[in-house]
Amino acid sequence: MKVLLLGGGGREHALAWKIASSPSCEQLYIAPGNPGTSTCGQNLDLNLHDFPAISTFCRSAAIDLVVVGPEEPLVLGITDHLRMDPDLQDLIICGPSAEGARLEGSKAFAKAFMAEWNIPTARYGEFSRDQEEEAIRFLDSFSPPFVIKADGLAAGKGVLILSTKEEAARAIHRMFSGEFGDAGHTIVLEEFLDGIEFSVFALTDGKQACILPVAKDYKRIGEGDSGPNTGGMGAVSPVPFVDDHLMEKVRTRIVEPTVRGLAARQIDYQGFLFLGLIRVNGEPFVIEYNCRMGDPETEVVMPRLKTDFLELMMAMKNQTWTRWISSLIPEPQ
Ligand code: AMP
Ligand code: GLY
Repeated sequence: MKVLLLGGGGREHALAWKIASSPSCEQLYIAPGNPGTSTCGQNLDLNLHDFPAISTFCRSAAIDLVVVGPEEPLVLGITDHLRMDPDLQDLIICGPSAEGARLEGSKAFAKAFMAEWNIPTARYGEFSRDQEEEAIRFLDSFSPPFVIKADGLAAGKGVLILSTKEEAARAIHRMFSGEFGDAGHTIVLEEFLDGIEFSVFALTDGKQACILPVAKDYKRIGEGDSGPNTGGMGAVSPVPFVDDHLMEKVRTRIVEPTVRGLAARQIDYQGFLFLGLIRVNGEPFVIEYNCRMGDPETEVVMPRLKTDFLELMMAMKNQTWTRWISSLIPEPQ
């Protein structure tokens, strides 16, 4: 198989390492890649926003599989673009359509989706720019701290957690005044959930899913888990506090209803589904959905994945999962 991997972070190095280890991998290209990925395949100078250039490359290099690492091209519709190309009808694409990527690209969409399918998550309200007063009044329905989220993609920086109502009201005003650009034109106000976070990954074809090894990232920038949040400073897998009992709740209450919801809405979703979860009093809740693998979590998940990556991609395309599902459930810890 000839594979094109899009992205250039640690996540893509981990994916490239796993893909290159497959006996079916004939050729691996990574765009743009990084010095790490260059040890696994050939880096390419392709702009991830230039969708026509990506499809031209897929045609000329006879690519069989595209794996999309980061969320931005997915939210902007790379999958839809490639699917529309008449010469690329056999291409396997690991990454959802723009509609599916809205689970990550719009917090309001994700919250409404979870409400519709009864998926446990924090209580919330959604407000647009012309509803600043209502939004500030809605804060009274929560006790502090207050969680304010810009609706759109904001590179992990669109979530503010504030301890007083005054600070929260000022933050709402700043979001509506354009501090996060278009991403903050709609906001979500959420109940604060007090618990411990973990990351669950599934690979899905939009109808069935298999769960990959669970991980936990550590987001605070400073020593001793202090300072502001980052995208993730490091990660571990397995996660000692995530036992089989908790994973069973995650599967039945979160992963399965999510995939059922995607199927019911006929959303084209072939790729990774990343559930950012929090355990509160023993119960799992969704903090966020992502439409891709985690960074840095992929660096600890891929080494634990015993299954051949390209065989998994074939199973995703052909919907022949059954023999994989049990081998992918996280090992007992
Ligand atoms: P998100 O981008 O939605 O994952 O939020 C980024 C981070 O903010 C999460 O990883 C959590 O640490 C924190 N966070 C988001 N929503 C909540 C919430 N409802 N309660 C507590 N912490 C939250
Ligand atoms: N490590 C969290 C993320 O990839 O969003």
